[in-house]
Amino acid sequence: MRKIMIIAVLTATLACSKNDNSGNKDVLKEEPEPAAKVVTDPIAEGKSLIEGSDCLGCHKLDERMIGPSYKEVSAKYENSPENVEMLADKIIKGSSGIWGDVPMPAHSGLSKDNAKFMAKYILSSK
Ligand code: HEC
Repeated sequence: MRKIMIIAVLTATLACSKNDNSGNKDVLKEEPEPAAKVVTDPIAEGKSLIEGSDCLGCHKLDERMIGPSYKEVSAKYENSPENVEMLADKIIKGSSGIWGDVPMPAHSGLSKDNAKFMAKYILSSK
């Protein structure tokens, strides 16, 4: 009796999943390519990009280490689109002679978009 129950359940499950598949096939086929990542919060995005990169080895939020703290940077530059551009370029190409004798290495693998998220986060850290 138990065996029969199990078989009955299995058959029902199989029948269901088969129906699901055939029913969805066309819908799945017509699904568009996944769109580019939509970022709703650029500052949070910048923070997590920085946490996932090597930045924190040289920069802290509110204490100078090898490089200036992010609060020092945001105190020096107004949070404007021009400065986001300018700092994003520096994050990618490197920087020297602004804060002291130690240069910042380039991050040439970083996309401009991601560097701008980072710059937005830095300039918003008051
Ligand atoms: C090896 C250490 C090091 C690493 C890693 C590093 N920085 Fe820097 N960073 C520096 C130093 C040193 C300076 C100061 C350079 C100067 O005086 O121009 C600096 C300067 C900066 C500035 C200010 C530039 C300016 O013109 O005032 C920003 C913004 C910045 N870094 C962001 C980042 C971000 C974002 C990352 C990670 C992607 C990063 N840094 C990784 C050492 C580092």
